[in-house]
Amino acid sequence: MSSNQLDKKSEAWSALFSEPMSELVQRYTASVFFDKRLAAADIQGSLAHADMLAAQGIISADDLAAIRRGMATISSEIESGAFEWKLALEDVHLNIEARLTQLVGDAGKRLHTGRSRNDQVATDIRLWLRGEIDLITGLLRELQSALVEVAEKNVDVILPGFTHLQVAQPVSFAHHLLAYVEMFARDEQRMGDVRRRVNQLPLGSAALAGTTYPLDRERVARTLGMVNDQGEACVCQNSLDAVSDRDFAIEFAAAASLVMVHISRLSEELILWMSQNFGFIKIADRFTTGSSIMPQKKNPDVPELARGKTGRVVGHLMGLITLMKGQPLAYNKDNQEDKEPLFDTVDTLRDTLRIFVEMIGGQPNPATGAKEGGITVNPQPMQAAAQKGYATATDLADYLVKKGLPFRDAHETVAHAVKAAESHACDLSELPLKVLQEFHPAIDKDVYDVLSLRGSLEARNTLGGTAPAQVKAQIARHRARLGN
Ligand code: ARG
Repeated sequence: MSSNQLDKKSEAWSALFSEPMSELVQRYTASVFFDKRLAAADIQGSLAHADMLAAQGIISADDLAAIRRGMATISSEIESGAFEWKLALEDVHLNIEARLTQLVGDAGKRLHTGRSRNDQVATDIRLWLRGEIDLITGLLRELQSALVEVAEKNVDVILPGFTHLQVAQPVSFAHHLLAYVEMFARDEQRMGDVRRRVNQLPLGSAALAGTTYPLDRERVARTLGMVNDQGEACVCQNSLDAVSDRDFAIEFAAAASLVMVHISRLSEELILWMSQNFGFIKIADRFTTGSSIMPQKKNPDVPELARGKTGRVVGHLMGLITLMKGQPLAYNKDNQEDKEPLFDTVDTLRDTLRIFVEMIGGQPNPATGAKEGGITVNPQPMQAAAQKGYATATDLADYLVKKGLPFRDAHETVAHAVKAAESHACDLSELPLKVLQEFHPAIDKDVYDVLSLRGSLEARNTLGGTAPAQVKAQIARHRARLGN
């Protein structure tokens, strides 16, 4: 498309067309009002391309200087809000190119040599997404650190661990939080994996088949930081694939969905824990809302919304993966639909993680540097809840096994003991020794050590178990990994 036509899209696309695009179709096909978000990446990609064109003698040094000058002006216009985005120019790429040509003339028209919007847009999304992945990875690490910090203060706080949401066995609250640290650590690794496949250069594939100009694609890749851990340039190796697949975006959406699913599980727990029936924690008032009718209410809107937004992110994953299905090689306009779901996934994930970092860990007090305003832990109700559901029944069975009973028999014996405790409306540890001995004569007074919550915790001293010694070792490992 010539610069004249770029300026006047009210005219036909080119000499080949007998009429201009209808206004409705212009609006239907335009992406500029969302893809202008890629402007910085678009300019970065264009500058790397132009630098290589000049190095290869495809454009002159003067042209390169003019393109650089023009792009600097455009960058500041975009930053200040002075840049005039035009719907008639369809997308971010044509808007910037048209303005460049307006500013610097023919040099602007030469920028598109050996390039197509197809490899250009694929490059832009990858550059942009790479930056977002880095921010998200940082936030995932901050969230892990916040959880580790709260864990460190609560190693000896005991709450009931649940299976089927029925009291199962006592666990350390720190151990419970560290389960989420493991999830977010895997999420961080997944983001790193995705980043490696995002960070590959499509540019140089042109429309679909490569180009007749002697491009140096590796130079462009290096300029854009698209290199692997060994410092080798990462260049997409098949032009048809490079311009058409969006699997990197789908992978990112899948990784993002898993982060949100983990956030959603944590949210569900926070919501339960702060309900009156649990009373295990409080979250700071600035993360809660009141009710317009019930004056006593403090609602956990933030975790609820995060749980709800998980559906939205998983929906984007479905949207993106379905978008790809059935597309023949190579580029199809369908792919323009990759942007809004991807942008919204990033925004939702980034905001959610930011809020969770602060909601869990609090904010540093500017005077002291100490973090304040994170979740408040109430050990007493946690402990009382752990005391309620016969959480140490397995410990009694294990005790009998150590006295020589086969586990299955011990299991049955303890079931009788629990039934008796239930009928006395007391805990196993409150049954007198005489009563316990009716269930099995091997029971002695040392049984009360294993029936205590603390005894139960300390006994689970295998790697990955909830014994305080194990939990402390995990905290140390995470601290070393997270560098704090
Ligand atoms: N705005 C388009 C996109 O997002 C750019 C590529 C258009 N290429 C084309 N041949 N129509 O995918």
